[in-house]
Amino acid sequence: MCGIVGYIGKSDGTNVIVEGLKRLEYRGYDSAGVAMIGRDGRISVVRCEGKIKELEARLAASPLAGTIGIGHTRWATHGAPSDHNAHPHRSGPFAVVHNGIIENYADLKEELLGKGYEFTSETDTEVIVRLLEDEWKQCGSYEESVRRTLRRLRGSYALVFLNEESPDLLVGARQESPLILGVGKDAFYFASDIPAILHHTRDVVLLDDGDVVFVNRTGYRVESLDGTERQPDVTVIDWNPIAAEKAGYKHFMQKEIFEQPRAIVDTLRSVLDVNREVLRFSDLNLDASLVHKLRKVFLVACGTSYHACLVGKYLLEGLCRIPVEVDLASEFRYRKPLLDDQSLLIVVSQSGETADTRAALKEGLERGAHCRAIVNVVGSSLARMAHGVLYTHAGPEIGVASTKAFTTQVVAFYLLALHWARTSGTISDPEFSEHLRELLALPRKLEEVLDRADVLRDWAREFLKVEHFLYLGRGILYPIALEGALKLKEISYIHAEGYAAGEMKHGPIALIDENMPVVVLAQKGELYEKMLSNVQEVRARGGRVLAIVEGEQDPRLGESTWQFPVPETSPWLAPVVFSIPLQLLAYHVADLRGTDVDQPRNLAKSVTVE
Ligand code: F6R
Repeated sequence: MCGIVGYIGKSDGTNVIVEGLKRLEYRGYDSAGVAMIGRDGRISVVRCEGKIKELEARLAASPLAGTIGIGHTRWATHGAPSDHNAHPHRSGPFAVVHNGIIENYADLKEELLGKGYEFTSETDTEVIVRLLEDEWKQCGSYEESVRRTLRRLRGSYALVFLNEESPDLLVGARQESPLILGVGKDAFYFASDIPAILHHTRDVVLLDDGDVVFVNRTGYRVESLDGTERQPDVTVIDWNPIAAEKAGYKHFMQKEIFEQPRAIVDTLRSVLDVNREVLRFSDLNLDASLVHKLRKVFLVACGTSYHACLVGKYLLEGLCRIPVEVDLASEFRYRKPLLDDQSLLIVVSQSGETADTRAALKEGLERGAHCRAIVNVVGSSLARMAHGVLYTHAGPEIGVASTKAFTTQVVAFYLLALHWARTSGTISDPEFSEHLRELLALPRKLEEVLDRADVLRDWAREFLKVEHFLYLGRGILYPIALEGALKLKEISYIHAEGYAAGEMKHGPIALIDENMPVVVLAQKGELYEKMLSNVQEVRARGGRVLAIVEGEQDPRLGESTWQFPVPETSPWLAPVVFSIPLQLLAYHVADLRGTDVDQPRNLAKSVTVE
């Protein structure tokens, strides 16, 4: 759950590393640090508690020069955020940065303490670099001591090492934490994620678990832990570097909300041949024989991606008539799920690295289920572990609160459900064509909502000081009530709950008064009248209602009700359309309250530990 960068080349390494770290700050921002090998051949470290801007201030006071170095931005796991727990950590001639968790660090530490090593931090990472020094003292070879060290570690790591005895060699290693190698002109880069290096190169090697990489000034060698060399492909990343920047918006989250029409077009384009009305899922591996064999689907994820799964259940059951179970990954992995070779497990994740979701997928693989992943990050762990993958082409999502990743996940589920329904014959060809027409009209409808974003800012001004919110939805919009509440609480720190509107009378109605605004998702259709009744129940108890209403404003919602109309759409796509005003409301409330919208307290973008 940290961001790491390594650089070897001809430029000012500190600058490259710090710029890279800034683009990884979403992965953690408790402390940061850089280590460089200077002209004197010695390693110097500057590190401190706090965000990268604190590190920059320290570097301004104590500049580091060099063309080979490593950097880190931390999300604390072992040891509180502090200067002395900040990476890089040192031992003898070595320095290291680490993302992950070493499960056997306590045993290793005890062994090393017994040998007389002293520790200056509470981190598991320091154990790695002390162990490296110990192995090196025994075998004398840097490369071999790296291999020996890695073989003794249990847990997850992405690591980059510096050694002042080998000032032209950078070493990286990966096991269950993300790490890529960027291949530039006269320069090489290690990074936890693509945006960190996109300004320098688009050519990357997506490293695998068990890879160790030795990089010198002219080339690199990728090996497994036993020293066997492999020749991995170089992938050309087609993300525009500008897409990884704020592009004029105040926050990444705001920019990402506005990117949704494009993200959805890209996701559609990736599988849909519009002229021939054909869906092609090249990496999914879900052919007709498998569709006919499957008896049950399990959808598993965490947080916002879990909410996408809840929508996915409505889509798959509704359109394909197959039973679907939805689980939180952290529960699924421990509940001994009943999976067999007639089960399909689909894990969903923006990052593709979430620890619980990875564990859930591992469980599915071990229990013989057919396993697929819906992920945003190409080449991420989940994408590689599953038997097939459907990418949501949202592009990089930097804001910690997920927005475009969520709506593209919902669209991915819709595309999958259509493909399945057509294959299994639960929808006719004309129905299929009608669904495609609705999908193609979706981006324009989202633009219409985004054009009226200012209205939501006015709402936010009015409700800014409130401390509790309730969100109500029904049917396929019930998960959107959950998601709307999650968005508000995580970035504005206002307590918010999502409920199925029909459940209100079974408890939450006791909370209603003028201090508890109620956001109502009023979708037209068979449940609309029931939702009108729920609105009356809230109003009768003095509650203030904010209604997102499909089509025109409706006087039946009550004169005092705040109404935000959204374009009418197919019931299956309403989750996407209704999500946008809820994201904007949460964003504006948080911005007006002055919270750190892109990096809310206590959260990190990618939760790579349990
Ligand atoms: C909330 C949010 C989180 C993530 C969750 C899973 O806005 O972003 O709840 O959805 O941590 O992350 P991924 O999708 O990367 O597996």
